Amino acid sequence: MDVFECIRTRRSVRKFKDKQVPWDNVVTIMQAGKYAPSAGNLQNWKFIIVKSDAKRKAIAKACLDQEWMETAPVYIVLVGEPEKAERYYGARGRRLYTIQAIAASIQNMLLTAHSLGLGSCWVGAFDEDEIRRILLLPEVVDVHAVVVIGYADEKPEMPPKYRIEHMMYFEKWWGRVEGPKTFIGWWSLYNKRIVDETKKLAKKTAKKVGDKVKEKIQKR
Ligand SMILES: Cc1cc2nc3c(=O)[nH]c(=O)nc-3n(C[C@H](O)[C@H](O)[C@H](O)COP(=O)(O)O)c2cc1C
Repeated sequence: MDVFECIRTRRSVRKFKDKQVPWDNVVTIMQAGKYAPSAGNLQNWKFIIVKSDAKRKAIAKACLDQEWMETAPVYIVLVGEPEKAERYYGARGRRLYTIQAIAASIQNMLLTAHSLGLGSCWVGAFDEDEIRRILLLPEVVDVHAVVVIGYADEKPEMPPKYRIEHMMYFEKWWGRVEGPKTFIGWWSLYNKRIVDETKKLAKKTAKKVGDKVKEKIQKR
């Protein structure tokens, strides 16, 4: 599966088979997380693997009672070490860089799970204090996400996604078009398709009219 296909077909899975994930797959998924970019290559994260029934149950409860999580045999809890980033980059390192690096790490994990034929879901809704208590976390670290992994027992449809034109600006905020030429030209595949279809229709209509005129002339 190429990277784009993997990105496009990954889905959040919320129902899993009662089947263990091979340990080497779990390690590969964590390796993928490890290779994510991080500001200054600080890699200021820790991945906590949770497999025990009791802890998975407790974490699912801490995730605002998302009971479906219990069907997943493995959780990876992503924990950030913001102090490291703050030392180098101040408040920006603490607030922004740590969060962004860990988000990149999570996405790497989700995509790798998908490429290995596994389902996964990024869970961000939780009571952080409760997870701290369950995992005996020190004060200086933050809980960023729980990634649940297992063999999917559902095949979710792709949820609605906006068209790319909807989220794409050109050169500036609200820069929908650069000029009239680009509007009907190359920058928007959507507009190009409309123009192509209109051209085709115009040609077809012109041919029909031409044929009718010829027919009338011949009849005279
Ligand atoms: C920051 C973040 C937090 C999320 N938290 C949850 C969550 O707590 N529970 C859940 O079921 N899904 C959660 N999701 C998954 C989203 O619901 C899901 O990505 C979205 O509906 C789009 O579906 P897709 O992943 O199949 O494209 C979260 C996703 C992100 C990025």
